[in-house]
Amino acid sequence: MLTIPQDLDLDRLRAAFPSLQGGTAYFDSPGGTQTPIPVADAIRDALIAPLANRGALTAAARNADDIVEACRAAFGDFLHVQADTVVFGRSSTALTFDFSRALARTWRPGDEVVVTRLDHNANVEPWVIAAERAGATVRTADFDPATGELPVGAVVEQLSDRTRLVAVTAASNLIGTMPDVRDIADAAHRVGALVFVDGVHYAAHALVDVPALGADLFTCSPYKFMGPHCGVLTARRDLLEDLVPDRLATSADVVPERFELGTLPYELMAGATAAVDFLAAAVPGDGTRRDRLATSVEAFDRHETALRQRIEEGLQNFPRLTLHSRAARRSPTLFVSLDDRREHALSEFLAQRDINAPSGHFYARDASRHLGLGDAGALRIGLAPYSSAADADRLLAAIGDHLDGDGGPAGAAR
Ligand SMILES: Cc1ncc(COP(=O)(O)O)c(C=O)c1O
Repeated sequence: MLTIPQDLDLDRLRAAFPSLQGGTAYFDSPGGTQTPIPVADAIRDALIAPLANRGALTAAARNADDIVEACRAAFGDFLHVQADTVVFGRSSTALTFDFSRALARTWRPGDEVVVTRLDHNANVEPWVIAAERAGATVRTADFDPATGELPVGAVVEQLSDRTRLVAVTAASNLIGTMPDVRDIADAAHRVGALVFVDGVHYAAHALVDVPALGADLFTCSPYKFMGPHCGVLTARRDLLEDLVPDRLATSADVVPERFELGTLPYELMAGATAAVDFLAAAVPGDGTRRDRLATSVEAFDRHETALRQRIEEGLQNFPRLTLHSRAARRSPTLFVSLDDRREHALSEFLAQRDINAPSGHFYARDASRHLGLGDAGALRIGLAPYSSAADADRLLAAIGDHLDGDGGPAGAAR
């Protein structure tokens, strides 16, 4: 379908977020975005409407059922998968742990699992623990700290005919790198391995197409894209049918419910649906919800890329500052260290000016170490669709003031 590129009406978008009205500039969106009114309304509406456990008998039970069905349909569109392969959970970390246990049931000593040093710990440690229990070996694919790239070859080197699973991120929450997941998945599939893709950071910045990525399993977290704090996982239907999760004997043994332990958080599911609808409506567009999501994501991407470039250019004027986000394909997430390694003091200085840009390793601890930044990490500047040029200019001015104060004269940036 031919769509005319639409631009983002930033003022209109920002007006939907009460927390933006206080004047704070939020560069901490990779940790979680601000919440628009329709999402909060949907949560509230779900709670104050008649609500009971899912069923067909009463209006309250039907409301719960409708919320669950609507949420699966929304994430079916969001992820480009069948609605009945959408599993809802407390967080991506919890879902990854749950699925690691179910998947590892058939692993045997001598089997291998491949993880990457680029990944958030949530897509490493569950696999390490599951592998240890099964007597399987964990192999680690390294990214190149000089370029920030995770080359397909680095993963391929770790594959063997004993590889059972490859766990890889679709985008680094630390330096933004978006590896070529499709090629990695194709290589993994050639040796008979499954591919588990962490899409938590990626889903906030790209139109997700799980089948096109070649992922057998994929997770994301709606609170990274304006929704409530929860997690969503999808997997190939045949895999969901075959996997045997730990579950209560009295609970439904059907897909996807048998992967969802206990009562679902209906209000969060209503909020997550509202987040998908909010994104789809953020930029004028036609067609299905998926078409409208595509239009919005395209406009967000143009906006975030322009802002990223503006900040990158500004950072070049500062002395003794290193930008570690360098991969050719990456999200608008800038990881910045100072030669004096006082990024934490810079974060504090920014916070005093109502600019939220924390420092740390952000649970991608091995990536931080691999970059030579140890466990202290560095400053992360992350953009969201609601970030503005005024926010970016304020950030640059504040960094400049801080460095002028204790950073000495300007020199060449690296
Ligand atoms: C890339 C990435 N993966 C996984 C996670 C964990 O997600 P959750 O908080 O939903 O467990 C995060 C959270 O920051 C993340 O950024």
